[in-house]
Amino acid sequence: MKKTEHPTATIEVAALSEDEARTELARLAAEIGRHDALYHQSDAPEISDAEYDKLRRRNEAIETRFPELRLADSPTLKVGAPVADGFGKITHRVPMLSLGNAFSQEDVTDFVARIGKFLGLGEADELAFTAEPKIDGLSISLRYDNGRLIEAATRGDGAEGENVTANVKTIDEIPERLGGPDIPASIDVRGEIFMSHADFQKLNAEQEATGGKLFANPRNAAAGSLRQLDASITAKRPLRFFAYGWGAAEPLPADTQSGVVDAFEGWGLPVNREMRRCESAAELMAYYRELELKRASLGYDIDGIVYKVDRLDFQERLGFVSRAPRWAVAHKFPAEQATTVLNDIEIQVGRTGSLTPVAKLEPVTVGGVVVSNATLHNEDEIARKDVRLGDTVIVQRAGDVIPQVVSVVLEKRPEGSKPFEYPVVCPACGSHAVRELDEKTGKTDAVRRCTGGLICPAQRVERLKHFVSRNAFDIDGLGDKSIQAFYDDGLIQSPQDIFTLQKRDQRSLKRLKDREGWGEQSAAKLFAAIDTRRKVPLDRFIFGLGIRHVGETTAKVLARSYSDISTFKAQMIAAGGGKECEAWLDLNNIDGIGETVSSAIVEFFAEPHNVAAVDALLEEVEPQALETVATASAVAGKTVVFTGTLANKSRGEAKAQAERLGAKVSGSVSKKTDYVVAGADAGSKLKKARDLGVTVMTEDEWEELISG
Ligand code: IVH
Repeated sequence: MKKTEHPTATIEVAALSEDEARTELARLAAEIGRHDALYHQSDAPEISDAEYDKLRRRNEAIETRFPELRLADSPTLKVGAPVADGFGKITHRVPMLSLGNAFSQEDVTDFVARIGKFLGLGEADELAFTAEPKIDGLSISLRYDNGRLIEAATRGDGAEGENVTANVKTIDEIPERLGGPDIPASIDVRGEIFMSHADFQKLNAEQEATGGKLFANPRNAAAGSLRQLDASITAKRPLRFFAYGWGAAEPLPADTQSGVVDAFEGWGLPVNREMRRCESAAELMAYYRELELKRASLGYDIDGIVYKVDRLDFQERLGFVSRAPRWAVAHKFPAEQATTVLNDIEIQVGRTGSLTPVAKLEPVTVGGVVVSNATLHNEDEIARKDVRLGDTVIVQRAGDVIPQVVSVVLEKRPEGSKPFEYPVVCPACGSHAVRELDEKTGKTDAVRRCTGGLICPAQRVERLKHFVSRNAFDIDGLGDKSIQAFYDDGLIQSPQDIFTLQKRDQRSLKRLKDREGWGEQSAAKLFAAIDTRRKVPLDRFIFGLGIRHVGETTAKVLARSYSDISTFKAQMIAAGGGKECEAWLDLNNIDGIGETVSSAIVEFFAEPHNVAAVDALLEEVEPQALETVATASAVAGKTVVFTGTLANKSRGEAKAQAERLGAKVSGSVSKKTDYVVAGADAGSKLKKARDLGVTVMTEDEWEELISG
C-alpha cells in the first residue's frame, strides 16, 4: 500500500501560511512521537536517522518562523528520548568491543598474513583459528559468580549496558547455575541472544491474531522481546542463546578459544556446534563457502563468519586496535539487494563541508528493513553509474552499513531523462564547492567540499554539535537540539560562545531560565555542566576541534605525544613549515599518524580563522594533559626508535608493546630520541644515533629494560 503524503507535508517552511503551519506542527509532533516510540520502545524503526533528523529540523524551522504556534507537547521541548527508561545501567568490567570486517578472500588472506607477521611467525609455525557463524542477534554479557548467574547486561555503548538480568533469567537456554568442572570464581560469559526463523514466524502470527505489533525481522523481535520492562512478557518469547566469548574471567578454563568454548559447553551453556578449528586462510575460506551454502537451512539469521586466533596467548599479544581486537575479524556475507525508484537526489553538507549525495527512494524492503534513503557515495559514482532522477535502481544493504545504490536498470529508464548535474556551490551557504587535488597522486578528491568553512551554516552548527558531543566535550544537557536552538537564536556561534554563555546570560534581557522549555534549575545545571568542562582532557579537546581525519583514536595519540595544548598548537603551526622541518617530521613519525592525517592537521592550523577560534576557546578552557598509560614502566614517556631486524618480535609487535608501556615510538632518530634499539643490519639510523650521542641498545638490553 502506498502511503499518501499529507497535503502540508511538502510545502516549504518559508511558504507555509499560519493555518498550514499549525496543521503541519500537529502532524510533525504526531509523526515524531510515533517514530520515537518505534525506535525506543519497539526496536522497530521505520525511517533512517537522517530522515528522522529532517523531521525534527522541519519542526524546529516552523517553530522558529511561528514561535506562537509551538505546541505544549512540541518535540523540541522533550529533552532526548528515554533509552528504555526503567532499566538500570551496568558498567562492563571489560568493555564489549566490535569486530573489524572482511569482505573478500583477499581480506581474509591479509588478515592471516597480518597476524603471522605481527607475531613474527614463519611459514612452518602453526597458526590456528576458530571459525564460527556470526549470529545476527544482540550481544549480551552474563556474569556468573561461583557458577551462579548474577547479572546480565546488554552491550549498550560497549562500556555500559542495560541491566536485563530479570529478563535473561526467563530464557530457558541460559542456565541460572553452571555445572561441571573448573567453574571460575567469576566470569562474564558473552554471546548472542537471537530468535529462530520458525519462532519468529510463529510470534508474528500470534501478534497478528491478537492485534499486537509485527516485528520486521528476527533480530528486532529478539531485541524487542528482551527489552521488555515486564519480564513476564520476555518469558513468553522463545529467545535463544549461543555463548562465544567472555569478558572478565578468573580464571579461564583453557588456553585456547576453542578450549574455553568447549568448557562452556561442559558447564551447560549452549554453544554453536558449527564452530570449527582451521589452520590456514584456505581452510577459513572453505569453511566460509560451506556455511554460505548452509546458511538458509540453519534456521536462524547469520550475517557472516567470525574468525578468531585460537591460542589465547597469541590473542593477548595481538591486543586491540581502537574498538576491535586484532585477533578476530568478521567475514561478511554479500549484501542483499532490491529494486526501487529513485525519486530525488539530495545533497547534504557534512560537518567538514563535504557534499554528499543521498538517494531519496520509493521505500522498499531490503533484507528485512525498509529503506528510503541510500548513499550514492559521490559525484563520480553518480556519473559512472549514470544515475538519473526517475531511474529504477538496485539498492543493496550489507549488514549494518548504510544502504547504497549499486546500479541502474536501464530498460526501465523513463524517456527524456537527463544526466544528473552535480551542484558546484554549497546548497547550505552558496559558497563555491571544490574538489581538492591530492598533490601526491595528482588525482582530484572524489568529494566536493564547501569552501565556506566557518561561515557555512551547515558546517558551523554541525561543528558545534560535534564539539559538545559525547566523545568530545561531552557537555551534559547541551545536545544537538539545544545547540541548534542556541545557534538559531545567535547565542552560540562558535565553541568559545558556549563558555561565555553564562556571563552573557547575566546581562541579557531574555534570560535562559525564561526560555521555553527551560527554568531556573535547568539553566543553573547547564551552566554548571559547562563549567566542569573548562578542564577537559586534551584528547577530547583535540577531537572536539573537528579536524579532518582526526578521530578519537588519533586525538588520543596526539594528546599523548604533545603533552599540552600550547606545545601541540605551536608544533602544528610549525609543522606547516614544509616537509623538511623538524615539526613536520616529528608529527609524521608518531606511530599511527600518516601523511593524510598530518596534512589535515597542518591545513587546519594554517587557516587563521581556525587558530583564532582555538585561541578564543583557550581563553575559556584549560585542556588537561593525559596521564601516560603506564607511568610505572621504565620507558614511559621515552622516545624510542627501532631499527634493523629484530630477532624476538616483529617491528609491529615491538612498537605496540612499547606504546602499551607508555613510550613513544618514532621512525627517525633526532636529538629528542631517548633510545635506539638496534637489531641486525641496522644502518643509517644507528649511525645517526651514535653521531648524536643517543643511547643505543640491543634487543635483549631493551627487553631487560622493559621487564625490569
Ligand atoms: S566475537 C571483541 N563471535 O558481532 C568482540 N561476535 O561485530 C568479540 N557476534 O558485538 C565478538 N556472532 O554481537 C563474536 N560468533 C560470534 C558472534 C559475534 C555475533 C556479534 C556480537 C558483536 C558483533 C561484532
